[in-house]
Amino acid sequence: MILLVGLMPIFLMKYVILENYEKQAIVQKNQMIQSQCRQIVEQVLETGYTSGNPSAVVEAELVQFAGQYNGRVLIVDSHFSIIRDTYEIDEDKVIISEEVLRCYLGEGTSGNYHYDKDYNFLELTIPIGSPEEHTVQGVMIISVPTDDVSAGRAALGRTVWILQVVLTLAIIAIAFYFSRVLIRPFAKITKSLEGIRGGVEVSEQEISIPDYTETQLLAEAYNRMLQRMKLQEDSRQEFVSNVSHELKTPITSMKVLADSLLAQQEVPAELYREFLGDIAEEIDRENKIISDLLSLVKMDRKSSDINIQEININQLIEKIIKRLKPIAAAKEVDLVLESFKPVLAEVDETKMTLALSNLIENGVKYNRDGGWVHISLSVDNRYFYVKVEDTGIGISEEDQEHIFERFYRADKSHSREIGGTGLGLAITRSAVLMHHGAIKVYSKEGEGTTFTVRIPLKYV
Ligand SMILES: Nc1ncnc2c1ncn2[C@@H]1O[C@H](COP(=O)(O)OP(=O)(O)O)[C@@H](O)[C@H]1O
Ligand SMILES: [Mg+2]
Repeated sequence: MILLVGLMPIFLMKYVILENYEKQAIVQKNQMIQSQCRQIVEQVLETGYTSGNPSAVVEAELVQFAGQYNGRVLIVDSHFSIIRDTYEIDEDKVIISEEVLRCYLGEGTSGNYHYDKDYNFLELTIPIGSPEEHTVQGVMIISVPTDDVSAGRAALGRTVWILQVVLTLAIIAIAFYFSRVLIRPFAKITKSLEGIRGGVEVSEQEISIPDYTETQLLAEAYNRMLQRMKLQEDSRQEFVSNVSHELKTPITSMKVLADSLLAQQEVPAELYREFLGDIAEEIDRENKIISDLLSLVKMDRKSSDINIQEININQLIEKIIKRLKPIAAAKEVDLVLESFKPVLAEVDETKMTLALSNLIENGVKYNRDGGWVHISLSVDNRYFYVKVEDTGIGISEEDQEHIFERFYRADKSHSREIGGTGLGLAITRSAVLMHHGAIKVYSKEGEGTTFTVRIPLKYV
């Protein structure tokens, strides 16, 4: 299509060139004939030819002139009668044509001309005498064939045609060349992208296409995407290996416990009780990991899975506290809720409960005996804020960067003893992000930790 538009001027060019040539040629021919006519007209006037005085000189001039152009010359007198026709056909006939009348009326002082393209002739009408001084005694009509002009036009046409063909071919060739050159970098990208279908590893190498600024930008964007995919792939693999490891640990413990019982003979009943108790604990642990994993997987799904309802947040937190009271009581940790206003917000009740109970549970679990956990709920016109503050062991700066990662536990042995899976905060963070909220941690080792959560009142 673009190629066609590009070729248009070439076809127009032919038309313009030929028209111009023809116009020029006719104008020139006309000028030449007119200047010769003027000489003849002068002689006609001098000799009084139009008044019936025969003149051999004029006669010879007319014949010679007509012969030169292979044309026909008519002399018309003031009675519109033809007094001389070099073809000797129409002599003594009367001619009243528009052009002749115009000559008498003085329109076109130096004569009129008319070019008939279809019949290939040029006709000039020239007044004999001066129209301005009203001394027109007659009109000279000359008609000459213009075969030479059309022959010239045809010859030129052939030349232009050849030029057209050459130009068209050249333009097509150039167009093809450039489209190839332009498309090449995109072909590179396509190839690279196809490499990725087989998995990230297949096309590890980044691409660089410095052909144009745009392609380089595209390549850079693509490389960034590749980087992100690699990171994602790495974290997925890490997650899978972490999951397998975490799930295997309790099973290994159970296996060891069971085997050691089986290896002994005459085992006392107390030992059975003790070992079975341990095995039951490991089963609980396995259960906890699996249920946490399921929660996390649910969070990872698209936001379309979210079940938004208007919920009273005060009641939601009170319910969580009620459930955690026994664990807190066992550690003699004081659980206090501070809230001054009822807060209604559009949230997913299950996910919000999981998020907040993980925070409060951590506050209790990683606390010292006899410490406290303060939960405060506040609200402005756009958000509600939950602050969970504890007097616990705190988190080091270094660990603060990682605690939201899946399976990350700050103090492995301690956390394990307390019975964590390392998934709690990951679940909390996912739930908060699903509600388009934000979560932050402030902590000082040995003094305590504060988590703040901000959630929009209206879910969008
Ligand atoms: N309130 C807190 N005080 C001290 N450390 C905390 C607190 N909350 C979380 N942590 C640390 O962050 C780690 C990650 O927390 P979390 O994801 O809930 O896992 P866990 O299952 O171990 O509780 C915990 O192992 C713990 O070391
Ligand atoms: Mg936890």
